[in-house]
Amino acid sequence: MSDLGIIPNGEVIVTDDKIAAVGPKLDAPPEAEVVDANGRVLMPGFVDCHTHACWAGDRLDEWEMKLKGARYLDILKQGGGIHATVRAVRDSTQKQLAANLRERLGLMIREGTTTVEVKSGYGLTTEAEMKMLRAIRRANGDWPGTVVPTALLGHAFEGDLDSYARMVVKEMLPEVSREFPDIAVDAFCEKGAWSVDACVKLFAKAHKHHPIRVHLDQFNSLGMLPEALRLHAQSVDHLEASKKNDLIALAKSETVGVVLPGTGLHTDRRFARAGFVVDQGGAVAVATNCNPGSSPVHSIPFVVALAVRFCGLTPAEAITAVTVNAAAVLGLRDRGVIAPEMRADLCLLHQKDERALAYEMGGNPVETVICAGKRV
Ligand code: NIG
Repeated sequence: MSDLGIIPNGEVIVTDDKIAAVGPKLDAPPEAEVVDANGRVLMPGFVDCHTHACWAGDRLDEWEMKLKGARYLDILKQGGGIHATVRAVRDSTQKQLAANLRERLGLMIREGTTTVEVKSGYGLTTEAEMKMLRAIRRANGDWPGTVVPTALLGHAFEGDLDSYARMVVKEMLPEVSREFPDIAVDAFCEKGAWSVDACVKLFAKAHKHHPIRVHLDQFNSLGMLPEALRLHAQSVDHLEASKKNDLIALAKSETVGVVLPGTGLHTDRRFARAGFVVDQGGAVAVATNCNPGSSPVHSIPFVVALAVRFCGLTPAEAITAVTVNAAAVLGLRDRGVIAPEMRADLCLLHQKDERALAYEMGGNPVETVICAGKRV
């Protein structure tokens, strides 16, 4: 993860939507439009592989309660938190949800994000989850980048968990599979959310046809990480409360650990030990976790800056974590690196040293974004 393969003063030729050639010195066709980077850094467009960016309403009152000491899981238990957003999402049309998401995608692309994963999970009924997934698909249609939907079928529950989880497996999952056959299936394994048992039952059914992703060890380590590895999960996300031995097992597996430092900054200053996983030989990705409750963050450069300060990654590792590794989490092999045949998703920074991406905080280091070969 620390070898970025930097080409000093390199050149890149883009033809249509793909990268045609990369090297220290290339001959561009005479009719080519030339963008002079002037020694500044050109890097792959960022891949934000974990967001809940499709929502309605806001959680500002809850945030003020948190500033006074209320805790995320207590608010959830009292019917707020995720449930507050569920109520707002149910009251919105598919068109409104798509418009809200589209606005957030506009903010993201200005900061270099050209591919973004967006989860459902604020519907909690088959109808409302399908509405969210269709809204996510619709928002993709008029955005230059790529939106990858994920079916977060186990985010929270209503009534009794066992019967709710049975409904998800019997009714919601088949409906999602019919309309979104390749979609990844996700769940939030946590006290007050889905138990290990409920997650395992959902994944046992889902993993035959869908990649599996799991929110786990965010506040409490319940033993889901070994189960997720056994199920060959594509990713395990959060990891703030993970045990050392579980992280070592993760590092030895094919599963990618996704860390979300915006969440620690916004909630309780606990961060995942991503550097430890990398030192043990594992792969990690970093993402914004853009959502109204635990991470109101849309900027990949900002979470890169946080990941080096709080998660133990080097600047180079953090760059790998938001490009090629994040693309791997989404099963995308055509982006995240600047190489021939790859999709021409590129971003040109203001700076001449790539480490400045992780060094600066709070500004926008991205000067130009190119998406599928077109300047955005
Ligand atoms: O990844 N923890 C579960 N899901 C989100 C938060 C969603 C919300 O609070 O609305 C997360 O942090």
